[in-house]
Amino acid sequence: MAQPTATTAVDAATLEFPDYIKHTQFKEWVREMVALCKPDKVYWCDGSQEEYDRLCNEMVESDTFIRLNPELRPNSFLARSDPSDVARVEDRTYICSVNRDAAGPTNNWMNPKEMHEILGGLFDGCMRGRTMYVIPFSMGPLGSHISYIGVELSDSAYVVVNMRIMTRMGKAVYDVLGEKGDYVPCIHTVGAPLEPGQEDVAWPCNPKVKYIVHFPEERSIWSYGSGYGGNALLGKKCLALRIASVIGRDEGWLAEHMLILGVEDPTGKKTYVAAAFPSACGKTNFAMLIPPAPMEGWKVTTIGDDIAWIKPGDDGRLYAINPEAGYFGVAPGTSEKTNPNALRSIEANTIFTNVALTPDGNVWWEGLSAPPASAIDWQGNEWTPASDKKAAHPNSRFTAPAAQNPAIDPAWEDPNGVPIQAFIFGGRRSTVVPLIVQSFNWSFGVYTGATMGSEMTAAAFGTMGQVRRDPFAMLPFLGYHVGRYFTHWLNIGRNISDPPRVFSVNWFRKDADGNFAWPGFADNMRVLKWIVERANGRGRAIESPLGYMPRYEDLDWRGMEDFTEQQFQELMAVDRDIWLQELLLHEELFMKIYDRIPNEFIAIRSLLLSNLWRSPEHWEMGAGAYNS
Ligand code: OXD
Ligand code: MN
Repeated sequence: MAQPTATTAVDAATLEFPDYIKHTQFKEWVREMVALCKPDKVYWCDGSQEEYDRLCNEMVESDTFIRLNPELRPNSFLARSDPSDVARVEDRTYICSVNRDAAGPTNNWMNPKEMHEILGGLFDGCMRGRTMYVIPFSMGPLGSHISYIGVELSDSAYVVVNMRIMTRMGKAVYDVLGEKGDYVPCIHTVGAPLEPGQEDVAWPCNPKVKYIVHFPEERSIWSYGSGYGGNALLGKKCLALRIASVIGRDEGWLAEHMLILGVEDPTGKKTYVAAAFPSACGKTNFAMLIPPAPMEGWKVTTIGDDIAWIKPGDDGRLYAINPEAGYFGVAPGTSEKTNPNALRSIEANTIFTNVALTPDGNVWWEGLSAPPASAIDWQGNEWTPASDKKAAHPNSRFTAPAAQNPAIDPAWEDPNGVPIQAFIFGGRRSTVVPLIVQSFNWSFGVYTGATMGSEMTAAAFGTMGQVRRDPFAMLPFLGYHVGRYFTHWLNIGRNISDPPRVFSVNWFRKDADGNFAWPGFADNMRVLKWIVERANGRGRAIESPLGYMPRYEDLDWRGMEDFTEQQFQELMAVDRDIWLQELLLHEELFMKIYDRIPNEFIAIRSLLLSNLWRSPEHWEMGAGAYNS
């Protein structure tokens, strides 16, 4: 792409706005940002297909995109990021509330004034030689009472086309914004200004300096130095989770890192559930699950795969919407076995980032299929199956429109949301946590969500394999104090007449030989069916120290009859000594938030302790009291 010369640089004072933009304060803000960032051009995104195609073509010309074989992947592209820019940067992510305490012990914090000084310096001239794209977007259906508008100013065309898939992006947003509407200002730069005549690179970013900054009081977002995923597509983690969690706290609702799915039983009755799993625990797979064939008549439909905005309805139930319009899914591991609906969703109109390229112009990643004889890896190097490196980066992604999912729920864009009957909390735990437990009640459920842990993966920052406490899978995404957040959850349930039932699941438990003890994927439907039955007041269970549990005969084993009761018992075992250790680990989290810990948690921990000390014959499988 020919770079504009410095002489074409935009003058903020004379900056011309399209006449459909009528919001005076918004114009002021753009002028201010243009004056600060000093782009060579300003481009007003309209969100049209024509614009999308044009930008994609430009990126093909500038080597940011490789067009995939149109016969195999129509209208689809591959991008390769800089090797230093492959994931969210949690250690560079800040919540800059006025008081440090408001951000709490789980967030990086800096005084807003101090941070603005740093950002002011970094952003000064940061877009020199580049175009500033003005990207208006709506999280949630356009114009709906539950939606929020954001405008992202970015110097990355890659961000523009991804935002068009992930959000409702385009000119129509300005109609909703009107003259005075609220919006979240989001400013993003790759942090790589170009000197006159300097050649651009395929993936500009700043390999040394990155800042992903949220100002909850101002409700604004500043992102510097990265072009990747959640660091750069600011509607997703930054707005729809970190900023929205603060709005939700103030307004009495929840912004959660949850998938939402519908389960239809053979009579056609639909039950909606929302589920929180830490990054890279298979949320997209679970959201698009296809039940095993022998479980005839059961069907799963998708509302969303990553984020849920959940609000109390007038009828005492909680209603959820998916604020996004696309999937930014982890590619490795996605296959015909693990997620056929995802494969259908990415057949066309998809942007792939950091996957491998096959000789016939298609994509490949570990776990998709038998490896190709040769490929170009995510860094652009020749690769063969003999190579000791991965062909696709473990955090490589696809960006695809949600509407392409064959299992999309008919209500996925309903502005009123869908009623949630169950919450599911899950982590990656090779030991300790049973396959499935139903919490005794809302407060126990909140405790379960609060004390969730997960073993680290490529998408999560930390040491691989170590258990990280990840309350509600929100650790990297909460815009305020985690203790206050727990209280907010308790309050939500206290103030509605029909709170959802709460469940904990663990698909990742391993046997003594270190193999996964549960097949997962489609077979998770067996657990989901029991959850749905319980949420509807049916389904048998026994009482364990942790909550209600199904016995072997309470799950549907059609097509999986060779899975023995013994294997099931191993997955469900609650070992007293191990659980006493686990409760001690909960204590570690509680110590961090000692001044904000809800009273209920201390009581529940004591109750769990006393439950564990009940003699096993009073609760072991088959011996407990039934409630049906
Ligand atoms: C994501 C994440 O990309 O959670 O959804 O990291
Ligand atoms: Mn996520």
